[in-house]
Amino acid sequence: MKELIELITDEVKAGFTKAGLDASYGRVTVSNRPDLCEYQCNGAMAAAKQYHKAPIVMAEAVAEQLKDSEVFSKAEAVKPGFLNFDLKPEFLADYANGMAGDDHFGLEAPEKPLTIILDYGGPNVAKPLHVGHLRSAVIGESIKRIARFMGHKVIGDVHLGDWGLQMGLIITELHERKPDLVYFDENYTGEYPKEPPFTISELEEIYPCASGKSKEDEAYHEKALEATNELQKGRRGYQALLKHIMDVSVTDLKKNYEKLNVSFDLWKGESDAAPYIPDMVADMKAKGYAYESDGALVVDVKEDSDKKEIPPCMILKSDGAALYNTTDLATMIWRVKDYNPDRIAYVVDKRQELHFIQCFRTARKCGIVPDSCGLDFIGFGTMNGKDGKPFKTREGGVMRLSTLIADVDEKMYEKIKENNELPEDEAKTTANTIALAAIKYGDLSNQPSKDYIFDIDKFTSFEGNTGPYILYTIVRMKSIIRKYEAAGKKLGSLHILKPETESERSLLLALAPFQDAVHSAYDDNMPNRICQYIYELSNAFNHFYHETKILACEDENKQKSYMSLLSLTLRVLETGIDLLGFEAPERM
Ligand code: ARG
Repeated sequence: MKELIELITDEVKAGFTKAGLDASYGRVTVSNRPDLCEYQCNGAMAAAKQYHKAPIVMAEAVAEQLKDSEVFSKAEAVKPGFLNFDLKPEFLADYANGMAGDDHFGLEAPEKPLTIILDYGGPNVAKPLHVGHLRSAVIGESIKRIARFMGHKVIGDVHLGDWGLQMGLIITELHERKPDLVYFDENYTGEYPKEPPFTISELEEIYPCASGKSKEDEAYHEKALEATNELQKGRRGYQALLKHIMDVSVTDLKKNYEKLNVSFDLWKGESDAAPYIPDMVADMKAKGYAYESDGALVVDVKEDSDKKEIPPCMILKSDGAALYNTTDLATMIWRVKDYNPDRIAYVVDKRQELHFIQCFRTARKCGIVPDSCGLDFIGFGTMNGKDGKPFKTREGGVMRLSTLIADVDEKMYEKIKENNELPEDEAKTTANTIALAAIKYGDLSNQPSKDYIFDIDKFTSFEGNTGPYILYTIVRMKSIIRKYEAAGKKLGSLHILKPETESERSLLLALAPFQDAVHSAYDDNMPNRICQYIYELSNAFNHFYHETKILACEDENKQKSYMSLLSLTLRVLETGIDLLGFEAPERM
């Protein structure tokens, strides 16, 4: 099934052709004057240049051709040369029935599905997730779901930060605290213990402590650098410690991501790229792309068209240590080798844009990634507090993600308790479900590249463009279905009749552009397009609900049609929130 705008455009193009005009002028858009019409085409205005005729004359000729259209109830030329359209009620009902008959609502799978590697999450091992990691996880998860729904093969990779100085810092601090651990004995050749020498809370305390010390104490910093270097060179005891750090930390991370309804297919990290670094570096040197500059190894990546200076991409530091660039480049090697992707996309803070420009250019220049594989940087903006500055705790520190979630859970629980008498258990789980929707929708309803303000009061509101409002609408529909069935009626086979009232028509109009929304969200990596669609759909449904006696409708056929419309809307909304990565409760 074609997307709505395409169907309409095809029809208008045919009108242009029949009127002796070039079809390419028949491009249609949603009306920017909904009071005048539903869709519009400004092509006759543009055609004036080519045909040297008054736009209105051409618009009238096209309108004449569309008089008996199956699509339009109104095709009207208005001065100075616009074309205004309204859709036929039969056409709207047919389109909706077509959507209802398909589990993808008419969206067809691509002829050749793409293999996409999506790099999102990006947490750092041994550091608790903080609010800065929220956006990558939430946006990445949604982009993954949207691409999968489109029919592509998506491999989500968490790309753990597990290869830098932070590992050396943890090892150094552990050495200070427990120097007798066997991991530090260079002469030890036996097997290392299976049990890690720390818990997750110890680990999370060790890192900031070490990081603090290394900032004040030069000798300590040197030790940490040395430990990092030895780890990277493969020192056995340190490798064993790394494995413990990874195990403990990853178990904890998985738990936290699960709470966010975020998951990954691969739990690879920067360290997985390490084996590819030596050959990669040798190749860059052999081909003459990498050269020494002040002791470091770099690749030039500036281009003539650059508006701002793009410094060379540093591949190795003067002490030979790998950097963030190095692991990202070497990671591309195994991604290409193991998955031969059509596209690798990174969902990362937009402040890292320069890093990705440098890496992408180096990858192209040195032939690390074939030309057939796209490289996309999906940079997101900062989550700010109400003061417009990056979100902080009340004390001004970095807020843990788990604290943020707990705060929203609590707020939602209070609200639910105020409103109804759900049993305690259900109230708790329902609160968690709605809280997650509040957080995710609050984030995703913004264009990813923009900064936004995390406003807990606004996000948890049951009114307005919020997650809870969407859930509330869904729950309302579920409850109507329950009542309908309680009256002994069955949904059975559904059929939507042509709309008779304004609110019925508006609901069908809001439903129809589902595919348009999914396509555009996918093409532009913008889940906010889905939010906008489901928000407008929810509004249209609630308007229909207030204007229509659904359960009290006496005409059986009409009622059946209403229920069909409701049930399709419900399915579409549930799919919409699933694409955003959250769910609705049964009641709230
Ligand atoms: N760990 C990094 C950070 O916290 C993000 C990683 C993003 N992904 C990547 N391939 N570089 O900033």
